[in-house]
Amino acid sequence: MTPDDLESLIHRRASGMTIDREASVDETVIARVVRAAVAAPNHRKTRPLRVAVLRGDARLRFGEAVADVMAARGEEKNRVDKTRGKYGRAPVVLVVAAAEGESGLETDENRYSVAAGIQNMLLMIESFGMTALWSSPTKGANTEMAAFCGFAETDHVLGVVYLGHSARPAPPRDRPDPTVNWID
Ligand SMILES: Cc1cc2nc3c(=O)[nH]c(=O)nc-3n(C[C@H](O)[C@H](O)[C@H](O)COP(=O)(O)O)c2cc1C
Repeated sequence: MTPDDLESLIHRRASGMTIDREASVDETVIARVVRAAVAAPNHRKTRPLRVAVLRGDARLRFGEAVADVMAARGEEKNRVDKTRGKYGRAPVVLVVAAAEGESGLETDENRYSVAAGIQNMLLMIESFGMTALWSSPTKGANTEMAAFCGFAETDHVLGVVYLGHSARPAPPRDRPDPTVNWID
């Protein structure tokens, strides 16, 4: 791979929810996507990455678990009902969490590491010609999400990634240049 190839992959990647719900994703492809995340740097080799791969009915059961939390705290019925079915919008849902560190700093660093790992996964997904969207986990439902996924209670879910085959190509993204101060 040349730098041009890598640059093109990075800039081509786009988040998308126009995912074909019926087109399944090969298990070996999912495993390769997830494995890409372990190549992210992690300070002191803490190996903080935790991933659950939800397919089939598990996606709906996960939605039920999250929706029950929302209902218990009195959220609007419409939002609760929508949540029950929302993880069925992609054939694969990756729930990604970071382990707690031995200090506040280590916990922060673990989360940065897992976030970097998610980007590795998104690039791998793009390289397979598939699409994904990194969505925020529902606030206040970490305990239930972690329990559902078989994570430790102290693990922090920092992304729910919808994954599948794109139903239509994503429009090109307008990404302005960042603020960079060149200092010699
Ligand atoms: C931490 C994080 C949380 C996100 N949460 C959501 C979300 O809850 N819903 C959503 O539609 N997109 C979410 N996104 C995706 C961004 O909205 C998306 O990356 C953005 O629209 C830019 O599009 P692009 O990835 O195609 O450049 C999230 C992205 C990050 C990094």
